[in-house]
Amino acid sequence: MPDRKILVTSALPYANGPIHLGHLVEYIQTDIWVRFQKQRGNLCYYVCADDTHGTPIMLRADREGITPEQLIAQVGEEHLADFTEFSVAFDNYHSTHSEENKALSSLIYERLRDAGHISSRTITQAYDPVKNMFLSDRFIKGECPKCGAADQYGDGCEVCGTTYAPTELKNAVSAISGAKPVDKDSVHYFFDLANFSDMLQEWTNAGHLQPEVSNKLAEWLGGGLQQWDISRDAPYFGFEIPDAPGKYFYVWLDAPIGYMASFKNLCDKQGLDFNDFWSKNSDAELYHFIGKDIIYFHALFWPAMLSGAHFRTPSAIFAHGFLTVNGEKMSKSRGTFIKARTYLDHLNPEYLRYYFAAKLSAGVDDIDLNFDDFSQRVNSDLVGKVVNIASRCSGFIAKRFNNKLAEQCSEQALFHEFVSANEQIAEFYEAREFGKAMREIMALADKANQYIDEKKPWVIAKEEGKDTELHEVCTMGLNLFRILAVYLKPVLPVLANNAESFLNIDAQVWPADAKPLLNHTINDFKPLMTRVDPDKITAIIEASKENLEKTPEPVKAKTCEPIADTIEFDDFAKLDLRIAKILKAEHVEGAEKLLQLTVDIGDETRNIFAGIKSAYSPEDLEGRLTLVIANLAPRKMRFGVSEGMVLAAGPGGKDIWILSPDEGAQPGMRVK
Ligand code: 2FM
Ligand code: ZN
Repeated sequence: MPDRKILVTSALPYANGPIHLGHLVEYIQTDIWVRFQKQRGNLCYYVCADDTHGTPIMLRADREGITPEQLIAQVGEEHLADFTEFSVAFDNYHSTHSEENKALSSLIYERLRDAGHISSRTITQAYDPVKNMFLSDRFIKGECPKCGAADQYGDGCEVCGTTYAPTELKNAVSAISGAKPVDKDSVHYFFDLANFSDMLQEWTNAGHLQPEVSNKLAEWLGGGLQQWDISRDAPYFGFEIPDAPGKYFYVWLDAPIGYMASFKNLCDKQGLDFNDFWSKNSDAELYHFIGKDIIYFHALFWPAMLSGAHFRTPSAIFAHGFLTVNGEKMSKSRGTFIKARTYLDHLNPEYLRYYFAAKLSAGVDDIDLNFDDFSQRVNSDLVGKVVNIASRCSGFIAKRFNNKLAEQCSEQALFHEFVSANEQIAEFYEAREFGKAMREIMALADKANQYIDEKKPWVIAKEEGKDTELHEVCTMGLNLFRILAVYLKPVLPVLANNAESFLNIDAQVWPADAKPLLNHTINDFKPLMTRVDPDKITAIIEASKENLEKTPEPVKAKTCEPIADTIEFDDFAKLDLRIAKILKAEHVEGAEKLLQLTVDIGDETRNIFAGIKSAYSPEDLEGRLTLVIANLAPRKMRFGVSEGMVLAAGPGGKDIWILSPDEGAQPGMRVK
């Protein structure tokens, strides 16, 4: 029987954007810890899911002309593919838009309500009269009341740093439609967090949090706990509140419940006992790895919700810091906002796993990815020290001893020193002091290289009668390499697997009582890792700059940009407005709002996706003339590249009209 039962989660990534290197700090950190626990023989499950609800996801799906369900299915697949290629090995990856999550969210809400922890009251909020929806602060834009900067969001000014209420913005507009917001009343539901003040006072000081996190929470608790607004009005992509039609759970209510839901899904697939992990008297351990920006949700709301709904609370919350790149916040213009996929297109994911491990500690300090340091550490530690041991010894074993290890090794002390380091290394892994673990392992790698340097197998190999010595030295070298590989296995699972294939051994468990591998036939050595190619780093940065041009910011995309009051004539003159003939109009499979048009713009034929399906059938359009912007940069959409825009007017739905020139106009004529 394994000693411990452990359930581990990482924060659920939002389904409205790709995984980037900032996210990966957390998933790699968690995955290393989980792999370590499994390697130690503990029963450990690692679950996660896409965080799928909320307004941004609803609006993005709308912009792309697909349903939110289609969007989250596609993004969920992309996220999981990225994680898998980085060897982040979840036992289950689910979605918050799932039956399990709906049932558990309703259950938790109902238990909280029945225990008197939910109240409701009317609040007044900004409302978009064109889109018929309430606007959260992030969807209101205007001029800063303090410094007058234009285009500032409703919650604060990015230019002067002032925070204010959206009602204080000057000339406020909806960032979605450009309309002037109006005030509107609506009933909202609140979770009475203050009912849990005593419980949280105790819980936050009972060793479940890192010391710096406990201190922060003491400040928040000292300031008094506010009611938490857990409802949102339709239209909203989420779960309807069971006893409140038209009201939806705020995304942050059902997101952490997604941890439970993903585990429930795993239990149903594998016949595990859900209550064994989540009931109040569970003896399992529960850990949430998170970023320091979401501590409030995990260390206050979440334990309070769980406790109010009669579930167990987490054993610990492990917060980490943010990622900076080359000492600065990740930046799209500098090409340091790097997507997981862009990295994977160019470099070995294990380089990054090792680099993060080498920089990670148990604290909440930010970690910096410096590309020079990255290359230097990977090249010198992994290629120059660890892999080098195997390549230095394997050639002699292959050529001189037919790939067979010696029957004994004379110098076993060094081997024992390597094995007895396992306790210290395990302590570091357990405490999430991965940087310290890597330093310990590299100190051993130095010793192994020193041993080989002293024994000089390349010299003995040329001397008469030294075969046995050569055999034993190289056998010892490979045995030391084997122990290094198993210590690095939580961080470098691919390298460790390849090392196991090379050594022709079973998957290695934690080497608390490892014995030297003797009189054993190994396989031919193949290079286990190559040096970082600096050109690949340049390519990643270049490709990340390109990404910026191709992918507009979600909220700032063209359909969401407020309408400017006036533009200069020069701006207008930049538009290449042309008469076009619609040669072909087709439905787009999977798109709710788009039609695919093939248009003749005089000197060429273009493919354009137009969001006019609610107003036109393809047969109404073929053969008609219309007006297009011909010099709009091509835009990569989910269904293909759109090479221009058809001009249309109207509020939406059936009321959209494409602009149609009178007879006599010819394709290719330009607007003068
Ligand atoms: O901050 C985020 O990216 C959230 N999607 C994390 C949710 S974690 C959990 F609560 F679901
Ligand atoms: Zn300002």
